[in-house]
Amino acid sequence: MDIVDIKKDFPILENKNITYLDSGATTQKPTKVIKAIEEFYEKYNANPHRGAYSLSIEATEVYENTRTKIANFINSRSREEIIFSKNATESLNLIAYSYGLDNLKKDDEIVLSIMEHHSNLVPWQMVSKKTGSNLKYMYINSEFEISDEEIESKITDKTKIVGITHVSNVLGTINNIKKIIKYAHKKGAIVVVDASQSIPHMKIDVQELDCDFLVFSGHKMLAPLGIGVLYGKKELLNKMNPFIMGGDMIEYVHEQETTFAPLPNKFEAGTQNVEGVIGLGAAIDYISEVGYNNIQKIEKEVTEYAIEKLRKLDFLDLYLTPNTQNHCSVISFNIKGVHPHDVASILDTEGVCVRSGNHCAQPLLRSLGMDSTCRASFYFYNTKEDVDKLIKALKKAYEMFKKYIDNI
Ligand SMILES: Cc1ncc(COP(=O)(O)O)c(C=O)c1O
Repeated sequence: MDIVDIKKDFPILENKNITYLDSGATTQKPTKVIKAIEEFYEKYNANPHRGAYSLSIEATEVYENTRTKIANFINSRSREEIIFSKNATESLNLIAYSYGLDNLKKDDEIVLSIMEHHSNLVPWQMVSKKTGSNLKYMYINSEFEISDEEIESKITDKTKIVGITHVSNVLGTINNIKKIIKYAHKKGAIVVVDASQSIPHMKIDVQELDCDFLVFSGHKMLAPLGIGVLYGKKELLNKMNPFIMGGDMIEYVHEQETTFAPLPNKFEAGTQNVEGVIGLGAAIDYISEVGYNNIQKIEKEVTEYAIEKLRKLDFLDLYLTPNTQNHCSVISFNIKGVHPHDVASILDTEGVCVRSGNHCAQPLLRSLGMDSTCRASFYFYNTKEDVDKLIKALKKAYEMFKKYIDNI
């Protein structure tokens, strides 16, 4: 496949005069994904698992084949270990409600990293409060990494659940999840991996990682909004109660009692986001065509170029690990003395889209003594020219705010 001009595959990047640097929030969608959804509605739209007629059977086939595709993509042992959800947030809530509430008791411990997105933090606060278990955090060192000592001092024999983001959505740090999983298992804990910011950029192999649960959102990896995935080891999922009750997740329903369907349907109540599933399947095909090796090559080049250029702007504070091998295409920064929302608004006047705010990671930012940053996040459709536009826009913002900064 032609990886020279990737932007051509993304209509919005062709149609709009923008420099899109917010793929950490959501990625743009390639024509192949858009067309796959169009084709579903034009050729085989029906409610899967609901009809004996051929259109519904066709919709069911595509829906279930995508499950198999995802199982293969992350090297799951079985397609039954793949559950469709709305997004990573819903997948994490499913684990907290269906596993956490039923398996934790008073004085047990839940260990999270301080880097967690609120979606892998707030549900565990709920579990901790309802079960009387204690919530502990692994903090980061001055290089924005979790040290081995921190892992080993926080995960103990009392730990029952460890929640860890593979890649920080604020700092771009790639956590050593293999080490964390191995250590947690040694202590008898299960591990929930949030792969929302990693799977768009790197190969995930759940068997090699040996994680117990892993979640991600389709929209951060070229698929539509509103489709997410939960991977869970079959032996755990089989023992868990359903999270949402209703149609299609049952076996028999009596007036007072219900028996539930086997995996994966037990966790997929109600009509599902079929267009989302189909779009996710097309996104996986596209990522596989481009290849993670090419994705990483492009991103490394663009991100390293951005770091080099940003480091030269002495009016900026940069928040990233010095260890570039451990860093993934997200750069947080601030113009010293200027609120990030103001900076992002000025960048927008130059067509440069960056995120500003707390990135749904308030405990992390608080631990760093901040409340918000600007964040540029790159994907393989970004180029060095995009970085140049960011730098130009930042210089413009600094010139505009300079006199106010000097008066501080
Ligand atoms: C690391 C991480 N986890 C979870 C989420 C939540 O994703 P969603 O809003 O799609 O559920 C995000 C979104 O930014 C994220 O960056």
